[in-house]
Amino acid sequence: MKIGQQQFRTIWAAPVASIHQRQVNIIDQTALPHALRIVTLDSVDGMVNAIKTMQVRGAPLIGAAAAYGMALACQAGLTDGHLQMAASRLLASRPTAVNLRWAVERMMNILHTLPVAQRCEAAWQEASRIADEDVKINRAIGQYGLTLLQTLAAGRTERLNILTHCNAGWLATVDWGTALAPVYAAFDTGLDVHVWVDETRPRNQGASLTAWELQQHGVPYTVICDNAGGHLMQQGRVDCVIVGADRVSRCGDVCNKIGTYLKALAAYDNQVPFYAAVPTPTIDWRIANGLREIPIEERATEEVTQISGITSAGNIETIRLVPEGSMAANPAFDITPARLVTGIITEYGCYAPAALEAVLSLANAKELVDETFI
Ligand code: MRU
Repeated sequence: MKIGQQQFRTIWAAPVASIHQRQVNIIDQTALPHALRIVTLDSVDGMVNAIKTMQVRGAPLIGAAAAYGMALACQAGLTDGHLQMAASRLLASRPTAVNLRWAVERMMNILHTLPVAQRCEAAWQEASRIADEDVKINRAIGQYGLTLLQTLAAGRTERLNILTHCNAGWLATVDWGTALAPVYAAFDTGLDVHVWVDETRPRNQGASLTAWELQQHGVPYTVICDNAGGHLMQQGRVDCVIVGADRVSRCGDVCNKIGTYLKALAAYDNQVPFYAAVPTPTIDWRIANGLREIPIEERATEEVTQISGITSAGNIETIRLVPEGSMAANPAFDITPARLVTGIITEYGCYAPAALEAVLSLANAKELVDETFI
């Protein structure tokens, strides 16, 4: 996607200075929306830190970042033991988004089979393949989601209002986004769309990241506090909800940013269609019951008790919101049960949760991917 007139991805291998000292560039999402900061990483430690501190975030991007993390690890050592250690550290960096495990396992499966001398080059190639695939997958999700939005818009004269939670736009992926890919596709084809952007406490990925990237693209949007969605749905001012996901069970339970479940309940009560836009690497085929089996990341309580923003003098400041000494809890994700989900938009089409397992055979027939994608 473009920032100003320049084409960007969220992560890319830096131009090669030396074949043995390659680096990875990321857009530092902790600086947005107030500054566009590119950070260069040259070690697996740096990548683990970037994932933990959410300089890179969003399930698909975390997957690509982990793959590049493995490539960086190869520059410091190539033995099985060294790679296993790097994989374990990456896997522990964030527990909920399954793309992380998917990417690390994919990298390890390839590297283990190769002679040591070939591992480094293969790791960089595979990481860049994972990143490129993510872009294709999300474009395809955008096209399938576009069809849904066109159907909802058919015969209407008013604009189409889509509510989204957290940031599942291009910043959460390598490019295009998941939940926002259909929005960009619709906007680019001239559909009159508007996005209700949940601020998404505690880290405000909606207010800071979704708002910023929609603004960059020119898509009309309105930031709302997290509590407003149900009211807007009751008033008929939301035509559909589209969210991303950090992990989806094979039965269609959707794990996503905390607060998603409440939006799904309100959507169900108001007959508003609720979609999750989900690349297949986000589906955890090993898990049937999302509520029981998906680990929910607990993050630092300061994310709840404090807030950061920019002052009128242009300084970034963090302030305390609660009485000193208050207890706080910070579960970062929740599970929306499949019964509340209208459809799961994948790169193979939109599926009812009960039909999701049909996607597995498509995903396994990997060669289909390039034919299916636009
Ligand atoms: O904690 P985050 O910001 O990494 O959580 C991200 C989300 O919950 C997104 O909505 C989800 O990863 C989907 S990203 C396409």
